[in-house]
Amino acid sequence: MAIITGGASGIGRASAMLFAREGARVAVADVDRDGGGTVAAAITSEGGVATFIPCDVIDAEDAVRLARATIDRFRQIDVLFNNAGIAGVGSVEETDEALWDRVMEVNVKGMFLVTKAVAPYMIERRRGVIINMASSIAFVGLARRVSYAASKGAVMSMTLSMAVDFAKHNIRVNAICPGTIHTPFVDRYLRDFYADPEQGLEEISRRQLMGRLGTAEDVANAALYLASDEAAFMTGAPLIIDGGLSGTK
Ligand SMILES: NC(=O)c1ccc[n+]([C@@H]2O[C@H](COP(=O)([O-])OP(=O)(O)OC[C@H]3O[C@@H](n4cnc5c(N)ncnc54)[C@H](O)[C@@H]3O)[C@@H](O)[C@H]2O)c1
Repeated sequence: MAIITGGASGIGRASAMLFAREGARVAVADVDRDGGGTVAAAITSEGGVATFIPCDVIDAEDAVRLARATIDRFRQIDVLFNNAGIAGVGSVEETDEALWDRVMEVNVKGMFLVTKAVAPYMIERRRGVIINMASSIAFVGLARRVSYAASKGAVMSMTLSMAVDFAKHNIRVNAICPGTIHTPFVDRYLRDFYADPEQGLEEISRRQLMGRLGTAEDVANAALYLASDEAAFMTGAPLIIDGGLSGTK
């Protein structure tokens, strides 16, 4: 049984669909009620088991409600995929305090709050897997991303810390670090920051050795691996899926 935050769109959506196809029962948690409901319905129509639970990850009460509703419905939580996140584009000069606060709140505090709400149910069973969505930006400098880079660096460090604290409870905690993945998140960036989004897409595609952006399914497959017993000896680690962005020049 897996909770996927930000499951209404992009990587979260692809992960919810893949996990369900692999037999997991899925709780799709998101602020986007329409999108979340659509994903849960798509899984159900394929014969899978899914439910949508509305949740704003920055609201501590929502996080507790998410954990309780999941337990009420599924009796257990095996996997928490902390995937919800937002973009923050801008250098120091371009970033105002409100953007900084918002990005840190959703990407970092939201992950802490949901984990805090869910972990007791994993500790009780002495079993669980937590997957935190970081980014290759935790390791590679990218222009005009000061708030976003800070948030994903924090996610990476938080993952290491959680892995130590939860190891004694038989809970593994790892991070996924994608490069640029073609989701609505990137489409919004191309629309907002390039006069010609098509040309922008070509430009950012060249950053990857593969010469293309990643797909949501590329990342979902990595999440599936981390969630599985095949990754039993993996904890406190980044799984980098970036088409060669960070490892090569
Ligand atoms: N797309 C990329 O290039 C890329 C690269 C590296 C990391 N990531 C990370 O992957 C994650 C998913 O990104 P995506 O590309 O699928 O984006 P997306 O915008 O397609 O999906 C993000 C989802 O998170 C939800 N969300 C946002 N704020 C929320 C909140 N406060 N509470 C609950 N849900 C919330 C949105 O409603 C949306 O459904 C993010 O954490 C992002 O930072 C994306």
